[in-house]
Amino acid sequence: MKEIDADIVNKVNALRKALHRHNYLYYVLDNPEVSDAEYDRMMRELTALEEAWPELYDPDSPTSRIGAPPLSEFETIAHSIPMLSLGNAFTDSETIDFDRRVRKILRTDDEILYTVEPKLDGLAVELVYEKGKLIVASTRGDGINGEVITANVRTIRSVPLLLQDTGKRNIPLRLEVRGEVFISHEGFRSLNEEQLSQKLSPFANPRNAAAGSLRQLDSSITAKRPLEIFFYGVGETDLRLKSHWETLQTLQELGLRINPLIRQEITIEKAVDYYKALEDKRHLLPYDIDGMVIKVDALSLQTKLGSTSRSPRWAIAYKFKAMQETTRVLNIDVQVGRTGVLTPVAHLQPVNVGGAMVRRATLHNEDEIERKDIRIGDTVLVQRAGDVIPEVVKVIESKRTGVERIFHMPLNCPVCGSIVIRAKGETATRCINATCLAQLKERIKHFSSKGAFDIDGLGDKLVEQLVDKGLLASYADIFHLDAVKIEGMERMGARSAEKLVLSIEKSKKIKFNCFLYALGIRHVGEHVAKILASEFKSLDNLLDATATQIGAVEGVGSVIAESVVNFFKQNTNREVISRILDSNVCILFQAGEKERTLENKVFVLTGTLKDLTRNQAKEMIEAAGGKVSGSVGRKTDYLVAGSSPGSKLNMAKDLGVEIIDQATLQKMLSL
Ligand code: IVH
Repeated sequence: MKEIDADIVNKVNALRKALHRHNYLYYVLDNPEVSDAEYDRMMRELTALEEAWPELYDPDSPTSRIGAPPLSEFETIAHSIPMLSLGNAFTDSETIDFDRRVRKILRTDDEILYTVEPKLDGLAVELVYEKGKLIVASTRGDGINGEVITANVRTIRSVPLLLQDTGKRNIPLRLEVRGEVFISHEGFRSLNEEQLSQKLSPFANPRNAAAGSLRQLDSSITAKRPLEIFFYGVGETDLRLKSHWETLQTLQELGLRINPLIRQEITIEKAVDYYKALEDKRHLLPYDIDGMVIKVDALSLQTKLGSTSRSPRWAIAYKFKAMQETTRVLNIDVQVGRTGVLTPVAHLQPVNVGGAMVRRATLHNEDEIERKDIRIGDTVLVQRAGDVIPEVVKVIESKRTGVERIFHMPLNCPVCGSIVIRAKGETATRCINATCLAQLKERIKHFSSKGAFDIDGLGDKLVEQLVDKGLLASYADIFHLDAVKIEGMERMGARSAEKLVLSIEKSKKIKFNCFLYALGIRHVGEHVAKILASEFKSLDNLLDATATQIGAVEGVGSVIAESVVNFFKQNTNREVISRILDSNVCILFQAGEKERTLENKVFVLTGTLKDLTRNQAKEMIEAAGGKVSGSVGRKTDYLVAGSSPGSKLNMAKDLGVEIIDQATLQKMLSL
C-alpha cells in the first residue's frame, strides 16, 4: 500500500476547508471571493487527489455531490415536531383579522411585531444536523411522517453537508431545520431544454420539476437537476433562540441559505404594505412565489399562541391572486414558428389572471388538444406560471352545451399556403417551405431577441412590416438597414429610427454563445449554446467538429450534435453566416484560461458606455476572470465610467478607486 504523505493529507484538508467556505460565500452570502474558474480548479484538484488516495474518502467532502446508488423505495421517518401547514388570507382585512385574533388570544392591545417572508412555491423538507453534520433529510409527507431523501438532498449545492463554524457560536448538537426546495425559472428552462433534447416530455412548471427531481429513487439523476433551497424555520434544536428573526440570522451564520427578501419585526400595517411591494416584484423574481408568510416574531408569543392540529396560530400565508382562472375558448388558430412548426393557439375571452390580462393561450400541438379534448367554445381553466406563455390546464366539462366544435389542424400553411407535414413519431406539424415568410419573420425575431443579438427597438411588429415590405429577406439585411428605410415604417419617428440604427451597430459585437443561439439551430437553446461556446472556443473549431466530438461534450448528447453538424453542413447556412460576418459583425470569443487577465479584479460600471451595453461589458469582464459589483466599496479595483455617470463616480473618487473609460477597459481585455 502507498504510504500517504502528510503533505497530501494537509493539502486535501486545506482544499476541503477552502471549498466549504467558498460554497458558503457563494450560496449563502451571495458574495463570492473567487471566480468560478478558480473554484472549478480547486474542485478538480481535490477530485484528482481523492481519486489518487481513496483512503482519504470523506462522505462530507465538497466533491460528494454526485448521488448514491439508486433505492428501490423510500424509507419513512417521523418528524420530531409535526410539519404543519399554514392558514391562508386572501385580502388585507383577513390579514388584519389575523392580527386581531393573535392579540385577542394573547389578551393584549399592544402592537405585535411580525417577520414576513416570501412564500416559496416548492416542496417543504426537513434536514437534521447532528454536531454540525447533515445526518438525514426528509420530505414533509403527511406532516407527521416524511420520506427519507437524504441522498437526494445531499446533491443540492446550496445545502451544506457540514455547518459553517464561524467561531461566533457553538455548533448545535442537534438542529432540525426546515426549508423549501425549488427550481428557478432559468433552471426550469434549461432542464426542459435538456428533457426535449433527450426526447423526454418537459415538466409543466418549476414546482413539478422540483417535485419530480427530489423524489427520485436514483439520486444521481437528482444531482443533475438545478435544485435550490431556502431555509425558513427550525424543528427540535438545542440552539437558544428568542425570536424568529434571530432564528433566521442564526441559520444564515451556520451556512444555511435564507431568502434575501425577508423583512424583520414590522407591524401588521407595514406587513400589508410589504405584501403589495412583493406582489409587484413577484414577476421579476428568478423563482416562483405564491404569497407572503407572516409570522409572530417573538418565540415566547409563538409558544403561547400554539397550534391547531393543522396549522400554527402564530403564522398565516397571505396568498397572491390566483394564477389560474376560467374563461371561454372563442376560437383556435395556428401560428407558424421559426422552424415551420404550426402551433395551435386558443383565443380566449379576455380574463385577468393574477393581475395580467390573458387573451391567448398556447395549445402546444395536435396531440395535446386531443389529450385535453379542447374544443372551440369550451370553458377552460387557464394558467400563467412565472414568465411562461399562458396555457390551458383543462376543460370544465360540466359547462359543455353541445355546440362546441372540434378543431382540426389545417392541411396547408396558413401563411404561405404550402402543404404541411406531420412526420411519423413526431408531435409537430410543419410547413416545409423554407421561404415561408412566417418562418422568416420568426427567425428574425429570434435573431434579434435578448440572449441573441439583443437589438433593442427591433420589435415584433417592426420585423413583420420590414419583412412584408421586402426590406428584410435574411439576417444580414438587418445590418444594412438605415434610418431612412426604418422611418418609412408605421409609427416610426426619426428619433426611434436613429436609436434603432445605434442599437444595431452595438449588437455587432456579440459573444460567441449569443451568436450560436441567434442562428436558431434546432435544439440549441441558450444553455446548450453556452456549453458549445465554452467547449469549442471559436466558430472554426465548431465548424470542424464531428458529431461524435460534439456529442461527447457533457450536457450535449447525440441529438443535439447531429442537429449542429447538419446545420453547418448546409451551404445556405454557411452562406448566411458569411454574409453576417461580412456585415462587420465581430464575434467575441471567450478568453482561454491563460488569458484571464482580470483574475479577481473587481469592477463597477456607471453611465452609458460608447458601444457596449453594461451586460456585454459585465460578461466580458467575467470571461476574463474579473468580477462586477453593483456598488463602489473598498474592494473595488476599477470604476468604468461612461457618459452621464451616476453617484458612483464621486464615491470612487472619495475612496481613491481608479477610474477608467471604455477604451481602457477594452485595452485591458486586449480587444
Ligand atoms: S412556514 C408551521 N415559511 O408553505 C409553519 N412555509 O402551507 C410552517 N412555505 O409546507 C411553514 N415558504 O412548504 C413557511 N417562508 C415560508 C414558506 C413556507 C413556503 C410552504 C411550506 C409549507 C407550506 C405551508
